[in-house]
Parts: sequence; structure tokens; C-alpha cells
Amino acid sequence: MQCNVQNIRLKDSQVSWCISQPWEKGSLRKGMWCLNFGGPGVQMTRQTVAVMKEAAAKRLTEEAAAEGELMQYGNTRGDPKYRIELAKFLTKMYGAPVDRDDILCTAGATHGLYTLCTQLFKAGDIVFVEDPTYFLAQVIFRKDCQFTMVPVPTDDKGMDMEALDRLMTEYKDKGVTKTSEKTPYRSLIYLVPCFQNPTSRCMAPERCQRVVQLARKHESLIVCDDVYNTLSWIPKPDGSFDDPPQGLFAYDKKTDTDYKGGHVVSNGSFSKFMGPGLRLGWYEAPTRLHAILREGGFLDSCGGFNQFTGGIMGTAMELELVEKHINNIRKYYQDAVGAVCQVLRQKMPKGTKFHEPQGGFFIWIELPDGADVSALRQICMDEHKIAFLPGHTCSPEGNYQNCLRISFSYYPKEELVRAVTVLCEAATKMLQ
Ligand SMILES: Cc1ncc(COP(=O)(O)O)c(C=O)c1O
Repeated sequence: MQCNVQNIRLKDSQVSWCISQPWEKGSLRKGMWCLNFGGPGVQMTRQTVAVMKEAAAKRLTEEAAAEGELMQYGNTRGDPKYRIELAKFLTKMYGAPVDRDDILCTAGATHGLYTLCTQLFKAGDIVFVEDPTYFLAQVIFRKDCQFTMVPVPTDDKGMDMEALDRLMTEYKDKGVTKTSEKTPYRSLIYLVPCFQNPTSRCMAPERCQRVVQLARKHESLIVCDDVYNTLSWIPKPDGSFDDPPQGLFAYDKKTDTDYKGGHVVSNGSFSKFMGPGLRLGWYEAPTRLHAILREGGFLDSCGGFNQFTGGIMGTAMELELVEKHINNIRKYYQDAVGAVCQVLRQKMPKGTKFHEPQGGFFIWIELPDGADVSALRQICMDEHKIAFLPGHTCSPEGNYQNCLRISFSYYPKEELVRAVTVLCEAATKMLQ
């Protein structure tokens, strides 16, 4: 694979831009190592272009000879082929059945989250989040929606369920006090249960079961950003890859005796394994939520959320192009992440902790207690033009001052190894 990183130094204004929106102004490629960027690299997006080109040629030929549905407002659930093929594709990828009737097309996970937040909740309502959590979801919760964010502690198995139950009881009378047909939930629980951002860990099955019970008990809606589930490389003895852990949506079984109309939404996206420029995603959502969303002003006016791209993607899945693409990138990331972790094991200061991910885009690194990651970030930016995400930005209360998140998603393996080697040397020097 070609390496695009050239030795061009950036001005200070460009450096700060790299931290907030590294894909703008070219800082991903011009002399920076933006290890804070969680998007697919050039090799991946080139493959996606080839997939979309082939699928578009077929679908647009069909459309030209038919009624031109793809250019219309479209069904409020999304293009029918998209939903049918997505259900088949996810069933294969997850190794567990996905029902097309649960699927509704979105314009990506950010859009999906924002829509649920604004359509079902109002300022002052409560959202329980993992600590640490996906740093940009906090912008939607805090700034856009003005929710009260309640951080819940986590460990290697995910969110602490005892703490969640306690906090939900404590906040019972705050936020939504009266539910209705249009707003059936009292609060929101935001989770990334599978290859979490920032830690890449997966929630343990017993906690998945428990969180659904708690959501039913406290009349809360769990929204899972399921954006990394298909991006897994859990090895099987025969050299193939195992299914990812079961998604949380499957734990909210319609056949349960205490099923109460549905308390989980799986908020999926094509951004990570195909490309964020597609702005394409989906909900797996309970029937009552479909009704609320489809009767809302947005869908009522615009038809499907992303009719055109969804339609092309439907054909891409029908042709099994997406599945082939995923199998290629799984092998690629498995190799890249192995190489990066080897450098971390050999070169990070003594006492540093991390685990080698088997999915997702990130490595969460815990430096020894007392290490000042903000100072390290400054050194890395000023002296080495390396950016990473400081751990405290993922915490609503500014915890994890000695932690950082690096992404292995964008740069080729050789570049990653070089950048991470420099990062390790800078950390070792700073801690000496
Ligand atoms: C947990 C999580 N949710 C959502 C997104 C954004 O997804 P999309 O591009 O589909 O809006 C990201 C991207 O970093 C993410 O990590």
C-alpha cells in the first residue's frame, strides 16, 4: 500500500484543526499523524469506490428502465431492497437472525442518535452514559439537546449494572415524569456495547441481559451505537473469523413474558466498514418506535432518510460485494493492529496497560498513575506532529487523565508502526 504521509510541517492553526476535524484542510495526509482520526484509510475507501461503482451501474440501469423510484422521496422505512438485503447481510455478519421489519434506513449513526434524542426527549431529560464514552456523543447530549448527562462507571465487562440501577433510582423523579404514546421512555441509556469507542471492549453477555431488565424496570430506552460490530477479527482455530458478540437488540426478545413494547435500538452505520461519506445507516428498532418516527414531521416530509444511497447499497449487498469487502478489511486490520500492539508492548513505559482489540478502530492505553497525558499530547503535537485523543475528553467528568486513545484505522501499517514508535519514545522520555 502506498504511504501518503509526507514530511511537510504544519502551521499552528492547522495543528489545532487536526484535533477537532482532521479530515478537513488535509491534515490527515500533510505531515501529521492524526492517530485521533476514526475513519477508514485510503486503501479501504478505494475499495468502497469500486464496490459502489459496480452496484450503481447495475441499479441505475435497472432504474432507467423502470419507474425511477430511487429518485423519489421513497418509503419512510427506506428502499425495500436496502432493508431486505441489509437484514440478510446482518444475519450473516452477526451469525444471528435480523428481521427486515425491524429495519429503518438512517443517514448514519450520528443522524440516528440525534433523531431519537430530539424526537423522543427534551432539554433537561436524563441520559446515562458509560464513563468513558464516545466523546462526540457528548456534544449531542450536552450542547445540542441540553440533557443531564449521568456518567456510570465501567470496567472490563462494560457498564457497572449495580451502579446503573442505583443511579436510575436516584434520578427517577428527574427528566421525563409522565410518559405518553409519543414519548414512551423516561430516560435514555447510551451504550457502545460492541468494540466500544474509546476502549474497544465488548459488554459481557450477563450485563447485556441485565441492562435490558433495568431498561424495562425504569422505562428507559437503550440506544446502542452498533457501528463496529461487523468490524471484528476474532480468530477461529481453522483460520477463519468468528461471529462478533451478540448485539444488545437481540436481548430484548419479543417472546419474553416481560417484554414491554421494546427498550433497545441498534443504531448501525456503514461509515466504518465502507465510508463515512455515504452517510448511510439503519435502526433495528421496536415497532412502536417505527410508528413514532414515521409519523414525525421529518420522515413525513422527506420520505426515506437516504433513499438514493440506500438503494445503491441494497444492490451492493445483493451482489455480495460488501461481504467480500469486509472479509478483506478484517484481515488487513488484524495484521495492522497486531503490529501496533507489538510496538506498544516493547516500547511503552513500564506499567502501561492496554489490550489488543479483536475489533473496532481503537486502542485504549493507560499510562502509569500520575502520567500527564495532556502534557504528552502537547509534546507529541509540537515536536512530532502526532495527534491522539486524550482520555479525559471521553469522560463527562474529566476522568482518565493518564489514558489516551489511538486509532489504527486510517494509516497503512508501516506508517502506524513509525508513528506509534515515536509516540512510545516520547512517553518514555516524558516519564523518565
Ligand atoms: C460510537 C460511534 N458512534 C457514531 C459514530 C459516527 O457514526 P456515523 O459516521 O455513522 O455518523 C462513531 C464514529 O466515530 C462512533 O465511534
